[in-house]
Amino acid sequence: MKPELDETSGQHTTGHEWNGIKELNTPMPKAFSIWLWLSIAVAVLLWLLYPAWPYVTHYTGGILGYSSRIAVTEQVEAGRAQRAETFAPFETMDVAELAEMPNLRETYEPAISVLFRDNCAACHGRDAVGQINFPNLTDDHWLWSGTPEEIEYTLQVGINSSHDDTRYAEMPAFGLNEMLEQPEIKDVIEYVLQISGQEHDAAKAQAGETVFVDNCESCHNEGGIGELENGAPSLIDGAWIYGGTRESLAETLKYGRAGVMPHWSDRLSASEIRQLTLYLLWAGQDGNGD
Ligand code: HEC
Ligand code: HEC
Repeated sequence: MKPELDETSGQHTTGHEWNGIKELNTPMPKAFSIWLWLSIAVAVLLWLLYPAWPYVTHYTGGILGYSSRIAVTEQVEAGRAQRAETFAPFETMDVAELAEMPNLRETYEPAISVLFRDNCAACHGRDAVGQINFPNLTDDHWLWSGTPEEIEYTLQVGINSSHDDTRYAEMPAFGLNEMLEQPEIKDVIEYVLQISGQEHDAAKAQAGETVFVDNCESCHNEGGIGELENGAPSLIDGAWIYGGTRESLAETLKYGRAGVMPHWSDRLSASEIRQLTLYLLWAGQDGNGD
């Protein structure tokens, strides 16, 4: 169809007609077409400079060789380096030296408390005071000794964890495995109540003492004072992990216990483990809960 000239406007029409109405063939405004061509040019430029088109297994890399993955890695590395600088003492000194350093606590405790909350608070509580099944870490009652080196080692390898060198602590299931008769268990429970300063049946407790000497002392030490060598807790300090009531003692004796503390050597850096070790030493200095 031949385009016809519209006399009024002096422009061609599109040649289409709808019920006598004809449309002018107005060209695109200049500004718009410039913008359109410009965006196409920019798009082509970006395709050339940056990664753009996928192949089957790879993609066009772009002239600049930019990779968002490399960029992120670099940022993370920079963040790490900055953190290492901030925590310089923890990078270079061992925990015993750090424990001797003055003013460390004021500077670092706020930052380390975040690390503790992120990794440890779920089990040991926000303020490290523990909860049922998870020991209080702020008191003076340790399962594995509270020296800086021993705490650090506990964090590295865990307790009953999947680490090859894990600390291993198991309270045998005397009831379930029929290692003791029911009356013996009842007696030894009264003895544990006695030595932990609780209300008890004196006659049964006396019989229970023999059961204790024969079956429990090897791990829990004489009089139940605990043994840091094997993580068997003191039974006289009132710092119960699983509870010191007759019912919880009965459960401990029947089913045994083996709390799991994960190991952190894979998940935290050596510096972070030292930071947390110091954090626990500081928490202990406040003397909460003992
Ligand atoms: C999944 C739960 C869990 C998490 C998370 C956890 N712990 Fe533990 N932790 C335990 C349990 C359970 C025990 C006691 C094990 C036992 O009964 O023998 C323990 C024991 C410990 C002990 C030994 C205490 C002693 O008396 O010798 C230290 C120290 C400790 N945790 C520190 C930490 C720190 C620091 C973190 C964070 C990096 C952490 N824990 C995270 C469960 C946890
Ligand atoms: C092989 C060593 C071993 C022997 C034997 C043993 N225990 Fe234990 N016991 C442990 C360990 C280790 C724990 C800590 C388990 C944990 O924290 O998960 C423990 C925990 C306990 C607890 C829980 C303490 C708490 O804080 O809640 C009680 C109670 C207890 N033992 C009593 C006894 C009595 C009574 C006997 C003797 C009939 C006995 N144990 C024999 C190793 C032993």
